[in-house]
Amino acid sequence: MSIEIIGYGLAQAEKRVTNHDLAKTVDTNDAWIQERTGINQRYFSMTKNTSDLASEAAMMAIQDAKIDPKTIDLILVATITPDGMMPSTASLVQAKCGLNAQKCLSYDINAACTGFVVAMQNAQAMLESGFVSNALIIGAETLSKILDFKDRTTSVLFGDGAGAIIMRKSSSNQMRHYTRSEGDINGVLTSDGLALNPDMKFEHLSSHYLRMQGQAVFRFAVKAIEDVIVNLLIQTKLEINQIDWIVPHQANRRIIEYVANKMNIDLSKFYLNLDQYGNTSSASIPIALSEMKTKGILKEGMRVICIGFGAGLTWGGSYFES
Ligand code: UT7
Repeated sequence: MSIEIIGYGLAQAEKRVTNHDLAKTVDTNDAWIQERTGINQRYFSMTKNTSDLASEAAMMAIQDAKIDPKTIDLILVATITPDGMMPSTASLVQAKCGLNAQKCLSYDINAACTGFVVAMQNAQAMLESGFVSNALIIGAETLSKILDFKDRTTSVLFGDGAGAIIMRKSSSNQMRHYTRSEGDINGVLTSDGLALNPDMKFEHLSSHYLRMQGQAVFRFAVKAIEDVIVNLLIQTKLEINQIDWIVPHQANRRIIEYVANKMNIDLSKFYLNLDQYGNTSSASIPIALSEMKTKGILKEGMRVICIGFGAGLTWGGSYFES
């Protein structure tokens, strides 16, 4: 069975923060951030929570798809920064977008920066099994909630935002996935949750802030991207020159340059917008896809590979035909 993407949407958080802005509060500078990452600016959310950004992106995708919202029967939100522990952010989106159709199922997926790809894979399985017929897939983050703005090694890298797509069965468009994870025993990319509570005292762990051993994650990322491209090309029986776009998780321009060089792939095949948004974790791929659609560079019939990698450690990719 085949799957197609029929709508794209995105939501930008309201506050634009440049590298120069950050340099006023933490010991960093524009030159370092640009050279080491390629990031110029990012957006932080001041008033909107993850479900608000997710709902905005969802409404744009529904409009783009030109479908009756009542026909959506699956909502998946990939996020590591949900509004709360419960209900799921997907359930909040369902309510905020008025998608309370009787048969709609909504739940969140946490696979960090690979979350969107994992959500697409979940949706494909649900669509192909016949459980659902129109799936709304969202990647949404308010990472500013978990950034330590005193830590220059992490606070300059991330941003907030959301992106969404609508997926349904198709008569011709192929979709394939490849997803993997390995337990992060060394804790190279983490954020604490609530502590166990043996004394029945309400107590948080020391910090919910995101912590990352950047170089270890960099080394993992370049291997992960190569692994995804190789495996998706094997699955699809395609050559790299038959792929129109590679849409990677937007973490660091140097990671993409390294992979492009190593695999001898033209850098122009990779869509990059991290200069504008920073790293928005599970939102980065759908934001990029929606932006490409709006710009008119994601044309009908194009072959696309999306690649996620991040905490878990998780990595994976989706191949689809637009
Ligand atoms: O989304 C999940 C996936 N995440 C990723 O893929 C991230 C992967 N990692 C990276 O992108 C890079 O490792 C970073 C951008 C996080 C860091 O770049 P790096 O080239 O690996 O820098 P580094 O950690 O080796 O630090 C080099 C120097 C250090 O100073 P010393 O020890 O050489 O004196 C850092 O303290 O740069 C310093 N530094 C900074 N200086 C100015 C670290 N952060 C900053 C900063 N501004 N913001």
